[in-house]
Amino acid sequence: MHIPTLISRKREGEELSPSEIRKLIEGYTKGDVPDYQMSAFAMAVFFKGMTPVEVAALTRAMMDSGDCFSHRAGHPAVVDKHSTGGIGDKVSLILAPLVACTGCWVPMVSGRGLGITGGTLDKLESIPGFKVGVTLDEAAAQLDELGVVMMGQTDRFCPADKKLYSLRDVTGTVPSIALITASIMSKKLAETLDRLVLDVKYGTGAFMQTKKDAEALAASMIAVGKEMGVEVHAVLNPMSEPLGRAVGNSLEVIESLECLEGGGPADLREIVLDLSEKIAGVSRAELEKLLDDGSARRRFDQLVAAQGGNPADLPKLAEIHKAPIIREVIASHGGVIVQVDAGLVGQAALQLGAGRAKASDGVDFSVGFDQIVKCGETIHAGQAVCRIHARTAVDFDMAEAMIEKAVKISSN
Ligand code: URA
Repeated sequence: MHIPTLISRKREGEELSPSEIRKLIEGYTKGDVPDYQMSAFAMAVFFKGMTPVEVAALTRAMMDSGDCFSHRAGHPAVVDKHSTGGIGDKVSLILAPLVACTGCWVPMVSGRGLGITGGTLDKLESIPGFKVGVTLDEAAAQLDELGVVMMGQTDRFCPADKKLYSLRDVTGTVPSIALITASIMSKKLAETLDRLVLDVKYGTGAFMQTKKDAEALAASMIAVGKEMGVEVHAVLNPMSEPLGRAVGNSLEVIESLECLEGGGPADLREIVLDLSEKIAGVSRAELEKLLDDGSARRRFDQLVAAQGGNPADLPKLAEIHKAPIIREVIASHGGVIVQVDAGLVGQAALQLGAGRAKASDGVDFSVGFDQIVKCGETIHAGQAVCRIHARTAVDFDMAEAMIEKAVKISSN
């Protein structure tokens, strides 16, 4: 196969055959197709797009570039959720153990935070000892025992996506619906699922800025699922204000524990139930009961213990990761909260050190925000709009200025 010709054909908007796409991905995974050719190809796809058949072929080729889960005979329904990422989005930490309580298996392979959106793996690693590096054999054993595993992508799991995603990150080719679809769906379908629910976010704190783009991405991912025999549901959710009241790694785990115990912010509980309902095969009322009676929390404790952590540390997380400065941001006037800009809050969390600017950066588990006000709430002058957890006074001042911009209060 002559790669320059393939790139030129895509550049001219031609449809490539599934076997051409497979050979390209196989060659790239082995190192026979160099990065410079793959970046040119990615840019051609960025401008010309791909047909649904091409996207499905790309997804399948990337999925087959490594190992897939192979569930034992007689396994229960295998289900998962994927979110396109948002600010304060800690849904996975609650949904995975909750849905496992219904008897489904949840083999959740997640990512790290990059840019302003946080990552499930970083949040889990704020639990001392929690190991996200799990082999497929270990994952299979844990699914049999607990029905849930939360892990990172191994070297043998969709290696083509691992290479291509890093390349896209530095070549301006991330925001392509075809490439995003193949990237996300190859990893999720390698879990060998029966049902998948997608939480597609749009707004200032999301990848997709408009609802129209989010709808196009959702339709593309549903089409690939259909092509590959997996039931895929999509729920579109605005990401204009942060989800829940906490943003930052350990702070989000603390809020997740509240939700797992039947409490926590209403918007967080609602979205957990909305998404779980699509895949769990039980009613919303049954899911609510599993949160309220402590079942989901107990399953989370078992998950933590199985992956190297100590559940006894969970109630102590605020002490274990106590930032040097924890101070409130005070409202200068009273009124109704009309905006908490998720994008700005995410940017501020990133600058506090909660996220990473490039893949090789580390994250600070202790910093971020909690007690964040929600749109529609009434506030009086002198009350707090949130608390900032910062490492230094300079960081606090920077975050305070950004929160003052992010939060808008109507002056009645
Ligand atoms: N998340 C992924 O895994 N891949 C993308 O391309 C975008 C978001």
